Amino acid sequence: MSELPLRDDLRGMEPYGAPVSASAVPLNVNENPYAPPAAIVEEMGRAVASALVDANRYPDREATQLRAALAEYVGGVSAANIWAANGSNEVMQHIFGAFGGPGRVALSFSPTYSMYPQYARETFTRFVTVPRRADHSLDRGVVEQALFGERPSIVVVASPNNPTGTLLGSDELSWLVSDCAGVGAILVVDEAYGEFVSPTRHSATQSVLQYGNLVVTRTLSKAFGLAALRLGYAVAPAGIVDALRLVRLPYHLSAATQAAALVALQHADTMLGPIPTIRAEREQLAVALESLGLNVAASEANFVYVSGFADSHRVFSELLDRGYLVRESGPPGNLRISVGTPQQNRDLIQQLSEVLEP
Ligand SMILES: Cc1ncc(COP(=O)(O)O)c(C=O)c1O
Repeated sequence: MSELPLRDDLRGMEPYGAPVSASAVPLNVNENPYAPPAAIVEEMGRAVASALVDANRYPDREATQLRAALAEYVGGVSAANIWAANGSNEVMQHIFGAFGGPGRVALSFSPTYSMYPQYARETFTRFVTVPRRADHSLDRGVVEQALFGERPSIVVVASPNNPTGTLLGSDELSWLVSDCAGVGAILVVDEAYGEFVSPTRHSATQSVLQYGNLVVTRTLSKAFGLAALRLGYAVAPAGIVDALRLVRLPYHLSAATQAAALVALQHADTMLGPIPTIRAEREQLAVALESLGLNVAASEANFVYVSGFADSHRVFSELLDRGYLVRESGPPGNLRISVGTPQQNRDLIQQLSEVLEP
């Protein structure tokens, strides 16, 4: 049998995915450490069963009810400003499908989420990054040079950023979105971790209707604790939502997903109940890590980005041997650690202090 006619650019590639371990505490993919309340899980089960009574019929391909519920949850926008798909990963793939493509450029700011190059690869969009400053903020001069030099059609920035946890300030957002408009680009602000941000800070969802080129992506995978459900959404001007509808597959969002997500949104306050604990734990974790002589970036997410390891790979491996799976992320010398339960966080610090002992 001759070789399979695989696309040349996929030869030798590995599927994307973080390392997994059946036995270690998973502090590597920024999940919520708390499972949803059992009563809500049961209600979701009943809603799914009822949605599947006529499962011989295709689901609502416009996810009308769910998009209306998401609009109400976000506030200040309507269902026409919402797009929903299987995780914000799929939303992002729709964005790249509609606005990227051969001969086009997507720009982002490193270090950042490692899936962005893959969305670009799958849509034959050239992916360009410019480095952030040492404090992980954006250097306006460097960004503008890249913007006006490369003239991207998509600029994507995560806020809080993965892996650093740092926020895009509202002043940064306003010059960036205007500069993007100046080169005809859309600006995608990836707020996968948006609900973990201190309520005193600004969310880009509040600015969507002020601009014609701003898209904010969000997810139920993180703060809502529903990573297994696969529900992400975009908040965008209606014209951008219409563009995303052009590239989605028909009936991409199952009736089961739509029904379960509606229940989650009806119980948003309860689902988001653990956030204050997670924020407080993040702060305690940062203090404990700093007391071990490490540097921790100012995180507004449910993870911390830790630098100052002489040999981060050794620390990663030894923590795994001791039952804690963290993430090797960004350049060598850094590790990203998700906030766990209070007990897990304390135990992690204990293990790490032993691993770092001379
Ligand atoms: C910055 C960022 N965006 C998007 C995602 C994807 O989330 P989802 O589960 O909604 O596809 C992640 C997941 O880790 C993330 O870190």
